[in-house]
Amino acid sequence: MSRKISAKLLEQIYQALSEKNGRFGDLAQYAPLDDTIIARGWVYNIELEDLLLATDSRVAHLDLNRLTEYLEIPWRTVYKRPRYLSAGAVATNALTLADAACLFVRMEEMGFDSHPDRLVEHGLRAQKDLSHITDSEWALLSYPKRRLKEEFSARSDEQNDDGEWIPRNWKDAVGRRIEFTLMGKQPHLLTVIGPKYRRPAPQVSTVCPTCGCRYTKGDPEGALFHRSEHARVMRFMNPRPLAAFGTRLEKHADPELVIGDSPIWMHREVHQRALQFKREFQYDFLQWEGSLRKKNLRQESHGYLLADHTHTYGPGAAVGACAFWHEGDKWRMRWIWVCPSMRRSGVLARRWAEFLQRYGDFEIDTPLSDAMAAFVNKHGTAKQKQYLQAQPPTESSDL
Ligand SMILES: CC(C)(COP(=O)(O)OP(=O)(O)OC[C@H]1O[C@@H](n2cnc3c(N)ncnc32)[C@H](O)[C@@H]1OP(=O)(O)O)[C@@H](O)C(=O)NCCC(=O)NCCS
Ligand SMILES: [Zn+2]
Repeated sequence: MSRKISAKLLEQIYQALSEKNGRFGDLAQYAPLDDTIIARGWVYNIELEDLLLATDSRVAHLDLNRLTEYLEIPWRTVYKRPRYLSAGAVATNALTLADAACLFVRMEEMGFDSHPDRLVEHGLRAQKDLSHITDSEWALLSYPKRRLKEEFSARSDEQNDDGEWIPRNWKDAVGRRIEFTLMGKQPHLLTVIGPKYRRPAPQVSTVCPTCGCRYTKGDPEGALFHRSEHARVMRFMNPRPLAAFGTRLEKHADPELVIGDSPIWMHREVHQRALQFKREFQYDFLQWEGSLRKKNLRQESHGYLLADHTHTYGPGAAVGACAFWHEGDKWRMRWIWVCPSMRRSGVLARRWAEFLQRYGDFEIDTPLSDAMAAFVNKHGTAKQKQYLQAQPPTESSDL
């Protein structure tokens, strides 16, 4: 999609790019940037045009204020640091080095010989140690990789329906393909394709079949995100023995129960599985009142961390979790999640009688998954089964 550009500015760009750059290849263009500008960290507006004209004579056609406005590059009012606070100071309009460098980068993409390298390095220096960067700084970081590989495209903001569409295309001295489409005499569309441009590979969104994480293939940020997400999820998909849980299972009278008194690591383990349950069933709300840093201290809540009775993963491995909620004089099971490899191994069945003893003829939050409905049909009480019959069938697939 091309962005809308003011018809006036597009006309100026058309005039400029239609000419030859009188300074192309001129040695003077390689003159280093003035040290005072670098030391100051700001480029005054009166300096900007000179900097650009040094390497591209065609810039004289452009209204630079209009151009920066279009590119959303912000001017700031700056002052020389006053020696006396009571003294007056002269205000000057200026761009930070990073914003000026970004302007040069964008102009190069638009077909001008702005030689951004003069400024890019200086524009990046100030933010070297900061954890966050502006959009201009982002453009500078990626500049060495993206130079002359970009496609720039803009469409006039003026409604102009009459007249013939006339294409005017040429290749400039750098090798960029400049493509104007005129409507009558007015330029209406502009596309500038860098000499090293490659059509980007389509971004494919994939879902990892193991951890369920959705990410964009080929995007390094996406790969990093997936790697950490995969490791997090695998910790409860293929659980490793937890030493503290192993000890607790041996020594504690009620080792699986997770309430206010239970250690925070148990709360975290339940929290992770509550998140996974929410993700698997695409629910909007997390049914666990704790977080990574906070215990679930609600009196109404009883969580359980379910130990591996089969010794598949070793003593102290947690193969699932569930949570009950107390309301009025009733308890209900809010959710239960057993890791896929341990489903149909009797994890829930072996605890069911105990749950019924503690929580009475408890209800189960609907909708039930197919697996849970099958479970209730086999092990549920008469009332639970009756309740199940009254529920419309779910669309969830069996897991
Ligand atoms: C539903 C769930 C909690 C069942 O726990 P479980 O420990 O796997 O169940 P059990 O092994 O104790 O199953 C006991 C019996 O219930 C029935 N059952 C359980 N899961 C079943 C399934 N997927 N299909 C058919 N019957 C099933 C069977 O009769 C089973 O006995 P069997 O294996 O000897 O035939 C578990 O599969 C799970 O976590 N699923 C994903 C999350 C989920 O669905 N949560 C419930 C939301 S309401
Ligand atoms: Zn994964």
